[in-house]
Amino acid sequence: MPALREVLESGWVAPAGPAIAAFEAAVGAATGFPHVLATASGTAALHLAYRVLDIAPGDEVWAPGFTFVATVAPAVQMGAVPRFLDVAPESWTLDPDLLRRELRAAAQRGRLPRAVVAVDIYGQATELDAILAACDRWGVPVVSDSAEGLGATLRGRHAGRGARLAAFSFNGNKIVTAGGGGALAADDPVLLARARHLAAHAKDPAPHYQHSVTGHAYGMSSVLAAVGLAQVAALQERVVARRAIFARYVAGLADLPGLAFMPEPDWGRASRWLTAVLVDPARFGTDREALRQALDAAGIESRPVWKPLPQQPVFADAPSAGGAVAAGLYVGGLCLPSGTGMTMDEQDRVITVIRAACRA
Ligand SMILES: Cc1ncc(COP(=O)(O)O)c(C=O)c1O
Repeated sequence: MPALREVLESGWVAPAGPAIAAFEAAVGAATGFPHVLATASGTAALHLAYRVLDIAPGDEVWAPGFTFVATVAPAVQMGAVPRFLDVAPESWTLDPDLLRRELRAAAQRGRLPRAVVAVDIYGQATELDAILAACDRWGVPVVSDSAEGLGATLRGRHAGRGARLAAFSFNGNKIVTAGGGGALAADDPVLLARARHLAAHAKDPAPHYQHSVTGHAYGMSSVLAAVGLAQVAALQERVVARRAIFARYVAGLADLPGLAFMPEPDWGRASRWLTAVLVDPARFGTDREALRQALDAAGIESRPVWKPLPQQPVFADAPSAGGAVAAGLYVGGLCLPSGTGMTMDEQDRVITVIRAACRA
């Protein structure tokens, strides 16, 4: 890999240098964001977003309940109170109508959230325009957790565009990866500059070590940036490949009763990072867990979709609004093998096992 060799030969292996700048420019070009900071992980990018929004202990941060714990973990660690809203069945992402109603009720109570986090799920962009409209009305900033959104679009623009801050992940399992890593992106250069300062231990400009606030060691290493650079260049190809995998699953399985695919609403084009299905045991004749076990017995790894955060022991006492949709997705939802490197034969095997498991 030429970019990696260049980094190793240049001596720039720290979280600084030309590979980082090139990676940030590539992420900016791929997503349309003018300002990008490469980070050690998507979680680090989210933490920096919460830092620059000055989330304080006791502040409410609202997020969809149907997501990975990292969406809210850094805010919770800063003392914020998470509040979980349900997702919409037509997208599996944050329900904007529910959000609108909840914001109005919160304004009446005199306790608006300090931030709303919208989340792109399994390569599907959330309905950010409706979310932004709902939040703008009350002056609530929106963070986009686009860790799973790389390559997805929303009305022709990249997922996350329009949010005050967007976090991306280049973790090993993502559609493009640096082996690990993330990025924080924004339109506002001042916010991004603050995040950049905090990401490198918040050093004040002085010849000696001086700090007015404490920061983090959240920069991405040049070695990972060089790996990520080559991957970001392949993003569009990967989207085409993942969508082709999704289409083959649909062609091979759509006739089975009680098996539905994650819907794609008309506002966006999903990357289909993961193909997710929803099993209705009454019609499919087998429940999600039995299907997962049948795949497992054939040596095929599949995963239940996200267990909703309100059902997680750590959030047993967290307030929430709705939740029946997310709970239903968890009961029936399964992510199928979707790796870009999967061969047609391998995919045919998955399809065969799923067809054999159907007892309709
Ligand atoms: C929705 C969501 N948010 C945040 C993250 C965190 O990203 P990272 O693993 O790069 O810290 C992930 C994935 O890992 C994710 O799926």
